[in-house]
Amino acid sequence: MAFGIYIHIPYCIQRCTYCDFATYEQSKIMPPDQYIELLFEEIRQKQNYYPPQQLDTLYFGGGTPSLIPAHLIVAIIKELARVGFTTGPETEVTIEINPATVSEEKLKIYLDHGINRFSVGAQSFDDRLLKMVHREHSAKQTFETLDLLRKYNLNFSFDILFALPTQALEGLKNDVRIAVELGSKHISPYCLTVPDGHPLSKGRAVEEEQVDMFDFIAEELGQHGFQQYEISNFALPGFESRHNLLYWTDQPYWSLGLSAHSHLPRTSANSDKNKWGTRYWNVNSIGEYKNQILSQKGQQFADPTLQLPAEQFEILEMHQTLTDFCHTSMRLMQGLNEKQLQEKFPAGVSYAVGSIMNKLISSNWVKFDGTHWQLTNQGLVLSNKVFQELTFLKGDV
Ligand SMILES: C[S@@+](CC[C@H](N)C(=O)[O-])C[C@H]1O[C@@H](n2cnc3c(N)ncnc32)[C@H](O)[C@@H]1O
Ligand code: SF4
Repeated sequence: MAFGIYIHIPYCIQRCTYCDFATYEQSKIMPPDQYIELLFEEIRQKQNYYPPQQLDTLYFGGGTPSLIPAHLIVAIIKELARVGFTTGPETEVTIEINPATVSEEKLKIYLDHGINRFSVGAQSFDDRLLKMVHREHSAKQTFETLDLLRKYNLNFSFDILFALPTQALEGLKNDVRIAVELGSKHISPYCLTVPDGHPLSKGRAVEEEQVDMFDFIAEELGQHGFQQYEISNFALPGFESRHNLLYWTDQPYWSLGLSAHSHLPRTSANSDKNKWGTRYWNVNSIGEYKNQILSQKGQQFADPTLQLPAEQFEILEMHQTLTDFCHTSMRLMQGLNEKQLQEKFPAGVSYAVGSIMNKLISSNWVKFDGTHWQLTNQGLVLSNKVFQELTFLKGDV
């Protein structure tokens, strides 16, 4: 089993109109060194949930981790190592950086401490659109940040946001071409998601046009050697995000900080209590997070069920683990491995999944290559319907 840690850094220069992640404008939250103290305390309280080990992946996400002083990021890496969660040359260490928040000096500190992957929140190279969604940076600043990453020949990924109000296919084409030309090894295109009635829900490409936009992205990236390995992720071979793959391949991950969600799977050490695994998560409000961490200051716990209130963990039942397993596996282009399904679940369950898959194959939403079930192109577009069919309620299995 691989294992990784996610650290949430909830600081942003300003809040983008479309974002509902748990982050704060930097002036509306405690100074970062105080937040890091809370993170340290949380690390110490939960360090016994998982056996100490060298990490396969470490991911600093947000928010805007590159906004806080680099020595604080380094301090987190050191604190994790101090309690037994070390990083080495083989560890994929990613940090999300926003344009205009990274100087050469900061970058050198990251590199000196093992950070080896940079996820750049470029979103678009159209200044008019960036302004419209209240992004703080300009395309010029993205180019400057990339010049820096390229100077050191670094591995970086781009987030591209598409189907923004008034954005046409031509504009998106420009964004994707620039992203490829600039030497990104990994691209995550996200179709803007906002609820009905949201100010950004008007004037957008309609659903059919959004599908055309995605088709264009897939085709263009394919022509440049990128492989789509997950619904929203493309990479040159060997540059897939190993951290995100943990989420989609049923591996354990420990997430720390505001609103962070974690997965503690069944292991031989916890199999009685944790037959189908446990999910647990932190609260979304910084005040509540602080109170909760400080109220248990100095204590250590063996697992989340002994520490967290009932509304912050879920001991999974078989139907929930099966649903997670089907959804996350089918998000990946490699699909769901029949043998793995048979090994993980009782025979009746794999039989039930097999019959649903046969139904999906006859609708041409799913295909079977002899070992894995995978989404077809049509299934990709209608993935929500496929996931609905593969959602199991108590009593279903
Ligand atoms: C939480 S952000 C963190 C990265 C960084 N702060 C940034 O925004 O560039 C991760 C990515 O989620 C995507 N995202 C955030 N809100 C979204 C929304 N409403 N619809 C689609 N994608 C969204 C953005 O593309 C963003 O790069
Ligand atoms: S910078 Fe990223 S995390 Fe911050 S508000 Fe904007 S989209 Fe959200």
